[in-house]
Amino acid sequence: MEKQRVATLTMDDGRTIELPILSGTLGPDVLDIHNIGKLGLFTYDPAFFATASCTSAITYIDGDAGLLYYRGYPIEQLAEKSDFLEVCYLLLNGELPSAAQKAEFSGFITKHTMVHDQLARFFNGFRRDAHPMAVMVGVVGALSAFYHDSLDINNSQHREISAHRLLAKVPTLAAMAYKYNVGEPFMYPKNKFGYVENFLYMMFGTPTEEYVPNPVLVRALERIFILHADHEQNASTSTVRLAGSSGANPFACVASGIAALWGPAHGGANEAALKMLEEIGDVSRVKDYVQGVKDKKYKLMGFGHRVYKNMDPRAAVMRQTCYEVLKELKLESNKLFELAMELEKTALSDPYFIERKLYPNVDFYSGIVLRAIGIPTSMFTVIFAVARTIGWVSQWNEMIADADHKIGRPRQLYRGAVKRDFVPVNKRR
Ligand code: SDX
Repeated sequence: MEKQRVATLTMDDGRTIELPILSGTLGPDVLDIHNIGKLGLFTYDPAFFATASCTSAITYIDGDAGLLYYRGYPIEQLAEKSDFLEVCYLLLNGELPSAAQKAEFSGFITKHTMVHDQLARFFNGFRRDAHPMAVMVGVVGALSAFYHDSLDINNSQHREISAHRLLAKVPTLAAMAYKYNVGEPFMYPKNKFGYVENFLYMMFGTPTEEYVPNPVLVRALERIFILHADHEQNASTSTVRLAGSSGANPFACVASGIAALWGPAHGGANEAALKMLEEIGDVSRVKDYVQGVKDKKYKLMGFGHRVYKNMDPRAAVMRQTCYEVLKELKLESNKLFELAMELEKTALSDPYFIERKLYPNVDFYSGIVLRAIGIPTSMFTVIFAVARTIGWVSQWNEMIADADHKIGRPRQLYRGAVKRDFVPVNKRR
């Protein structure tokens, strides 16, 4: 039996504690610090730069080498050879499905794409020009009001049906948010379409004409969904896990993930990155804009990452997808794409970015592809949420399935006032 490896912490007063060193199948070892309370200490790591919050077997990232694996499969291979529903099955169940399993899973999802008709009335409470992410937070959270029959989260069948419902209905709600925003009628899902085709149909189809999906756009969006499906313990996934740790239902947990994703430092970056490219406007202004970044007037949206200190492997696939889609759509002279490539080239040759290991991330090119598909900027983060739903649900399911999971409850370093007595208002200065 291999001896347990430990790190010994010695305090300045001579007290010591042994902290077990744990190893994963891949990635850095971790210090198990849960016993550090015996020394009357907490650890301190705001924003969790060096903290593993859980054990997981779903996604592995190596930030220095620029690696991303879903259940051990490199993202580049899945993006090229798989399809989104197959990746969803993989993330949720841990293995690629057999042909029969894939057909059964697709059948489950297809049959759950409709939402309760009462849900359509929720949209009327919003202004037409409400940001679609605000609408999504509301209507996805409202799903829990409709599915009391399967909310025993400790029942694995209930967790599975909730996972299928979320995977199937979030695209329908996302398309409804878009239709509500543009004032067109909601389009009911059609079971004859595949998952991505159905989403594009619900987004761009109208009652007046037969909708024929464009295979180039379907493939491009399929790839975007695959690239955005999961990314280990990012801010929105950690939010979903923390919400789920209290026993909250999966619909409410995913709504909390959508709220966290909305921030421009996270999933809102694709919308911000495209607006940045439009603001720069022309290749001739790239140098000045980059100087403004170096003068810390603003950040380069779509650049940098907490984990990747190398090229985000998804950005490389996204750049290739961008090129292919623009070429297929005969938009090669797309100004935004040329601008993005010039910006990338300028930044990657500048010591400011090199020293800080700032590279393009998944959000840098995705907006250009989404724009080419015809998706408005305000819907970019909604697309991210549609894709990431399977990641949130898979991570939530993994946590709840662990019988030993506990409610998450971080501590703090208190730097407020010491004990003091109340002062009546007539005695205050
Ligand atoms: C996603 O976590 C995930 O996995 C997220 C995600 C997923 O799939 O779930 O990958 C999706 O959210 C991708 C990231 C999208 N966000 C952006 O593109 C927004 C722009 N990026 C930054 O806001 C930033 O890079 C973060 C938030 C992504 C990461 O920031 P960190 O890890 O907190 O690092 P930091 O802010 O401490 O930056 C370190 C240095 C600082 O400079 P100094 O103070 O040392 O001089 O790098 C600078 C920062 O100012 N810096 C940038 C920069 N990002 C960091 N400078 C200019 N432009 C940037 N984009």
